[in-house]
Amino acid sequence: MPDDHAIEVPDEVDIERPSAARMYDYYLGGSCHFAADRTLAAEILRAWPDMPAIARANRDFLHRAVRYLSGQGVDQFLDLGAGIPTAGNTHDIALSLNPDARIVYVDVDPVAVAHSTVILQDVPNATVVHADLREPASILTRSEVPSFLDLSRPVGVIMLAVLHFLTEEDDAPGVVAAYREATGPGSFLVVSHGTLDYMPAQARQAEGVYQRASHRLNFRSRAQVLGLFDGYELEPPGLVDIIHWRPELSADEPDPLGGGDVARYSGYVAVGRKA
Ligand SMILES: C[S@@+](CC[C@H](N)C(=O)[O-])C[C@H]1O[C@@H](n2cnc3c(N)ncnc32)[C@H](O)[C@@H]1O
Repeated sequence: MPDDHAIEVPDEVDIERPSAARMYDYYLGGSCHFAADRTLAAEILRAWPDMPAIARANRDFLHRAVRYLSGQGVDQFLDLGAGIPTAGNTHDIALSLNPDARIVYVDVDPVAVAHSTVILQDVPNATVVHADLREPASILTRSEVPSFLDLSRPVGVIMLAVLHFLTEEDDAPGVVAAYREATGPGSFLVVSHGTLDYMPAQARQAEGVYQRASHRLNFRSRAQVLGLFDGYELEPPGLVDIIHWRPELSADEPDPLGGGDVARYSGYVAVGRKA
């Protein structure tokens, strides 16, 4: 258990309010969470004991997708809802494959941003922006974005395990389209997204628990997740269960639960290319 007093906390953070970012860090075995985060995360784990393995599978998909995009010549990444830094961040993978790659992280959680800032202080090719991805116009005009990314060239836009925190009123398809329109031909969209298609009762229970967190969960159906890729051509193998997207690119373990039981992951992923 981490020493809560050892965690650097920006003034505006209410540590009594469970944070989706810090709960996810808890699932991943990180050390950046407080008692309120752990209490709510424990409720999730009672409802959905596979959550730590799902989080690990999601990170493994991130690694595979960044390797794939790097192989396609992408050297700029905009990672939206990037979370608290953990092993194998986007910049770690991208820079290991191309030392000239440029990475902008965005997160709305002040603790995630504070930790990213510390991690990135000696990484000149990457930066972090504290912003809400639902406001693409304001993010894309932030000085960090044009100084790190040339949006007229291909950009890898990454939105992993974050769009399921956007409600119907947030218009996730419209938000995604704004980033598509702002980025050049040959850009990619990478998404992972939880679904209620497989285990609706369990997924609804998780949505209920997250009502008390900083961000509410809003799982979507396969058709709804597919709809987020309007304007993109899906790269093979298309929209698939999280463990089935190019597992050969994994350096670790695409299926940490073993057995290929896609219902236990209840999440779709895809990579789309803008023509
Ligand atoms: C489950 S974590 C996923 C982190 C990382 N993308 C990954 O997949 O490993 C979700 C992250 O999205 C962030 N987030 C949620 N809503 C957001 C928003 N509207 N704008 C920016 N970040 C957001 C949370 O703060 C959290 O860090």
